[in-house]
Amino acid sequence: MRTPIIAGNWKMNKNPEQTQAFLEAIKGKLPESGVEAVIAAPAVDLNALTWFSKDEPLKTAAQNSYWEDEGAFTGETSPKVLSEMGIDYVVIGHSERREYFHETDEDVNKKAHAIIKNRMTPIICCGETLEQREAGDTNSWVAGQVEAALKGLTDEEVGNLVIAYEPIWAIGTGKTASADQAQEVCGHIRETVKKLYNEGTAEKVRIQYGGSVKPANVKELMAKKDIDGGLVGGASLDPEDFLALVNFQN
Ligand code: 13P
Repeated sequence: MRTPIIAGNWKMNKNPEQTQAFLEAIKGKLPESGVEAVIAAPAVDLNALTWFSKDEPLKTAAQNSYWEDEGAFTGETSPKVLSEMGIDYVVIGHSERREYFHETDEDVNKKAHAIIKNRMTPIICCGETLEQREAGDTNSWVAGQVEAALKGLTDEEVGNLVIAYEPIWAIGTGKTASADQAQEVCGHIRETVKKLYNEGTAEKVRIQYGGSVKPANVKELMAKKDIDGGLVGGASLDPEDFLALVNFQN
């Protein structure tokens, strides 16, 4: 049985005070079991999150990290330090990082190795553009991204990580992929993991859908057999919406 994982990706929003106010608003209201609630906050807000998560059922995530533990890499964040801070997950390969910061599949793969080496769990993002979808290239494109990101990882490592399918045309546009469209690609991702590894690994890996997920559509998406969670941007910024998302089973 895969535990559902609902992760809020705040992107470059909220300062430490706003983070504190958000955490106060959700305190005591997160589900104790049956679902993992995660927030991926900007690096400048992670300290507040890790303190909160000591007493509350919230997992913490960084939105990026570098692949080296330390050194002359001005402006980068060390995966070793994130791990020492108590961070649980690191989002890598988000389409915004690929588009605006020119991250490649090879970078994503190096980051995945570094995050696992530092005993955290990568959330590996993939997804197609509208042009790729219209050209019928979605499945092959996404499978290629997944294969490149997982290169050199063992079946045990892959079984423990999270893959987030985020069609670029559905991010921040209010245009959600239909639950059937999301299921089709998430199912194809699981099939890809099965081909690259084995059935046990494919059954274990958790796959999220992301792209305009909100309280109104989370239930329908989560009912699909290969969708194990959501990676939520806009709607995760509001504490009430975040609580509604993580309590989707109620
Ligand atoms: P929205 O939920 O705002 O569409 O963002 C999705 C996303 O990019 C999460 O990583």
